[in-house]
Order: sequence, then C-alpha cells, then structure tokens
Amino acid sequence: MTGDRPPDRWLVLRILAPADPEVRSLMVECLLEEARGVEEQDDALVIHLPPPEGQSAEDFARALRHSLVERTGIDTLEIETGWQPHEAWEDCWRQHFRPRRITERIVVSPSWETPEVEPGQCLVTLDPGMAFGTSDHPTTRGCLRMLDRWVEPGIRMADIGSGSGILAITAALLGAGEVLAIELDPWACSAARENVVLNGVEDRVEVRAAPVTSDGLPGEAPFDGIVANIESGILLPLLPALHAALEPGGWLVLSGILRNEAEGVLAAATDAGLHFEEADEEGEWWTGAFTAPL
Ligand SMILES: C[S@@+](CC[C@H](N)C(=O)[O-])C[C@H]1O[C@@H](n2cnc3c(N)ncnc32)[C@H](O)[C@@H]1O
Repeated sequence: MTGDRPPDRWLVLRILAPADPEVRSLMVECLLEEARGVEEQDDALVIHLPPPEGQSAEDFARALRHSLVERTGIDTLEIETGWQPHEAWEDCWRQHFRPRRITERIVVSPSWETPEVEPGQCLVTLDPGMAFGTSDHPTTRGCLRMLDRWVEPGIRMADIGSGSGILAITAALLGAGEVLAIELDPWACSAARENVVLNGVEDRVEVRAAPVTSDGLPGEAPFDGIVANIESGILLPLLPALHAALEPGGWLVLSGILRNEAEGVLAAATDAGLHFEEADEEGEWWTGAFTAPL
C-alpha cells in the first residue's frame, strides 16, 4: 500500500466464518497490512481493501480463501466479493456525523458545524476523512466516557489504532500532557494530523504511522495510560506488550469488544497480569478499564 490518496473504489470482502475469536484473529492477521473498515458480524467478517494489484477480485479472494482454510482448518469457509465506490463510503458517514454530547464535559462535532458549548466543556472538532472515529460508533463513545474518568492533567498517554485521532485529541483537551497516537493506516494518519491541528493540540499529540505488534509499541514507553479501540481478535495477542508499555499503576482502556467476548478478554488480561477496574457497556459493545500492578 503506497501513497496518501485513497483509491477510487474499495474491494469489499465478506468472509463467512464462525464468530470464534481465534479464527477471526487469524483472519485479521492474514489481512492486517491491507485491511481497513473491519466489521465483525455474527456470521461474517466484512473487510474493505484497496483493489488488489495485478489480479482480479475473484482470484484474490480465491487465493485468500485457500490460505485461510489452510491456517484455520475450516474448509466450509466462503468469501463473497463486491465493490464500493469511495464517494459512497465518504457520503455515507458524512450524513450520519452530527454534533454529539458524549459526557457532561465532552462534545464531538464535525468540522463543518459549529455547536454551542457551555463553559468548561471540551469541544472535539473532526473531519475524519475516511478514517474510523466520529463518535458514531459505541466503541468510540465507550472510550471517550472512560477517558473522561481516567485522564489526569499532565499524563503521558498512547492511543493505539488512533483512526481519526478522536481519542488522542480528546485526551489532550482533557489535560494529558503528551499523547502518542499510533495507527497503521497512512490515510487515517493524514486525517488525524489534520484533526490535531484543527483542535490546536499539535504541541501535545504526535501521530505515528506504524503497526503495534506483540513485539511492543513503536514509541517511547512507559505510559501512564493507554487506550486501544481495536477489535478483540487483534487486541488479545497484544495484551502482554500493552502491559509492558505501562508505568506501574498505569491504566489501559480496551474497546472494540463485543459483550460476548468480554469474558475472554477479562481472562486474557488477567493472564497478562492486569487488574480489571471497571466496564462500560453500550448496546452489544463492551469497554474495559484495567490497571498494571504497582
Ligand atoms: C475501530 S478503529 C478506532 C479508531 C478510533 N481510535 C476510535 O476509537 O474511534 C481501529 C483502528 O485501529 C487501526 N489498527 C488496527 N490494528 C492496528 C495495529 N496493530 N496497530 C495500529 N493500528 C491498528 C485501524 O487501522 C483503525 O484505524
């Protein structure tokens, strides 16, 4: 994947496979470099990809199916292909993005609207481009509510999978002294950097284009707090690395987790040596806060 311009259209893959976290995690791993807009459904994973280079969508899907069947052992696995024009994608979220009050203190608004805010409220202004993170999704809102409770003035933080930069920017506006926003998608990073400037927090937020892997964070650990809104299939193998990147007593907020996955995440976080502190639930989504032992 090169350049910072999105393609004209997106290949949409619907991978029909069981909602088993290990299987899903393997699938996302196979597609990690290219996948964006990964959506977990009960019976399928829906993934948007740039058009494959030098081969048809069908050939790409056939080769992917072959490697997924080999890795998961599920030979009933099917992949449906489709296309979505880039404009359709952009138009879709623009229509849904309205100013929204998340907590007493946090209001999120698209850059093309000017909502009234009360004294003491923090207004997060965004033009997310094609990056995830408008506050329309319950996982983003769960993280914002947690940040409202856990961010303390002057702390050093990391935002893993920062998308539009919404969480990193909010943390800075709530008083974090330094926030490293890490995101593997270069297009999302471009949008996040613009949003950082839009909110006047460029002295406190750095956006870094890099993947977080189980080898560790591409940043200057340790941090006082880490927020990671990525799906649980990706998060689980990262837990030991996230714990290692925390100060003793530091906190970790995890989201992108379905309620029925929460038990598995709690067990994995405990195995990784983290203490569970509190949960936030909205619809079918679960967000958890954990701390590292002192
Ligand atoms: C669900 S979005 C969250 C965006 C934003 N933080 C929010 O809360 O709305 C997850 C983001 O994580 C990024 N991502 C997924 N795996 C990653 C990894 N291993 N390292 C860094 N970023 C990753 C994706 O590209 C995507 O932008």
